[in-house]
Amino acid sequence: MSKFIPRYGVSDRVNHWIVALLFVLLSLSGLAFFHPAFFFLSSVLGGPVWARILHPFLGLVMAGSFVGLSMRVWKENIIKPVDIEWLKMIEEVINNGSGPDKLPIGKYNAGQKLMFWTMVGSVALLVLTGIVIWRSYFAMYFPIPLIRFAMLIHMLAGFTGIIALIVHVYAAIWVKGTIRAMTRGSVDAEWAKHHHPEWFKEQTGKH
Ligand code: HEM
Repeated sequence: MSKFIPRYGVSDRVNHWIVALLFVLLSLSGLAFFHPAFFFLSSVLGGPVWARILHPFLGLVMAGSFVGLSMRVWKENIIKPVDIEWLKMIEEVINNGSGPDKLPIGKYNAGQKLMFWTMVGSVALLVLTGIVIWRSYFAMYFPIPLIRFAMLIHMLAGFTGIIALIVHVYAAIWVKGTIRAMTRGSVDAEWAKHHHPEWFKEQTGKH
């Protein structure tokens, strides 16, 4: 048996890294608008003026790319009964106990699925509220109280997305052997067997 199992094709990975890069740039420039302490972060988009101009346009590109990424992975992120079992064992998952390994986990575990749906919710809210607060093009069509409310939701959705991203990156580093799935496109067979046994079975026909 080959030691590595393919997990993502080239276009999946390019799509993912475009979303990741844009999301990070949007988070940093967004923080610059949020509080003067983060003002220096506007330099990631070329300074305050360019950041104000580019942030909403890049937001649209990120959201469009995220829709593309979601269309590739949403089916494998549907919550199933086994995910509830996994969540009930969350303490064991964190302490690296052996219980969760016995569950028939597919391509993604419940933690990854929850992060996926959290991202879907925050990106959807960010786009909707982002349009309402986009001063130069759309804000004149909306009453001021709605713009203020949209601003608040935009900020909360942004924070939620940033926290989900931190958890996502931390988990990817913490579970050894995961990063190469998104860099090389393949994973070690032992990694697959250990963390995603049902997916391993589907891919190899072996137990
Ligand atoms: C910036 C640093 C990022 C790193 C290092 C990173 C790393 C990874 C890795 C290693 C995987 C493969 C996990 C696996 O196959 O088990 C993955 C999957 C994924 N990533 Fe990221 N990622 C980053 C940013 C993002 C962002 C910003 C988003 C979305 C807004 C995102 C959305 C996803 C999705 C949807 C998947 C597929 C897993 C699933 O659907 O549950 N990633 N990422």
